Amino acid sequence: MNTVKTVRELRAAVARARSEGKRIGFVPTMGNLHSGHAALVAKAAQRVDFVVASIFVNPLQFGPSEDLDKYPRTLAADQEKLLEAGCHLLFAPTVEEMYPEGMNGQTRVSVPQLSEGLCGASRPGHFEGVATVVSKLFNMVQPDLAVFGQKDFQQLAVIRALVRDLNMPIQIIGEPTVRAEDGLALSSRNGYLNAEQRTIAPALYRTLSQMAQAIREGQRDYAALIAQGQQQLTDAGFQPDYLEVRQALTLRPAQEADRDLVILVAAYMGSTRLIDNLHLNLDDQ
Ligand code: PAF
Repeated sequence: MNTVKTVRELRAAVARARSEGKRIGFVPTMGNLHSGHAALVAKAAQRVDFVVASIFVNPLQFGPSEDLDKYPRTLAADQEKLLEAGCHLLFAPTVEEMYPEGMNGQTRVSVPQLSEGLCGASRPGHFEGVATVVSKLFNMVQPDLAVFGQKDFQQLAVIRALVRDLNMPIQIIGEPTVRAEDGLALSSRNGYLNAEQRTIAPALYRTLSQMAQAIREGQRDYAALIAQGQQQLTDAGFQPDYLEVRQALTLRPAQEADRDLVILVAAYMGSTRLIDNLHLNLDDQ
């Protein structure tokens, strides 16, 4: 697996693969990789002949009081994991390579509606930063397909919309969340948790699972269900940011007749903000 740091080298390597008739898959990441990322690369490797991954901690998607500076940078370990998972080329640019003119005048991509609410409400500008960097990366790599984790459910919806709305010829694949044995969704931010917080953290997915079970059993009073779930999270030691039941495609608040649902949560454990979700389609039961 080769690692390149410039757009010029990236384009040359991808052009070589294309000239050999290879189909290109792409997995954008911010590094500090875990088995969830490995699953994204493995999925791409099943579908195409040449897998490109990127590692770039994108300043444009972090708010001023967020964890940009302390976000873990672990390039050597990440390179090993990518190689093992079947990646052929790693693009690991600097901030200057991605934003040579600086970030202030950078053209932005924004996806209205889907970016509003949920994480968009707590993290103003976050999805504009994501949509902008993903658009840039798509234009640099020009893949046939790209794989994203379903753990970032709203992000995946935003990316599907931008690809559709901007007519990008890229197939977007959502890969199921990889969980620890106790149910906690794997996330680079789990590394911020101390031992005690780590034992409490699975309460997040437990709460989602219990809410999903209640819905499967016929509960449709979502406001009551959410209030109960929030109490459960607070009792466990979380500070809930949001807990919502939404229609899975549009992310608008769920109504009684909706069948394709997603329960989404963001909650603080100490200063660490964790997110998770559970997608349930009542027609699949
Ligand atoms: O999900 C992530 O790791 C990031 O938001 C992404 C898609 C790589 C864009 O920076």
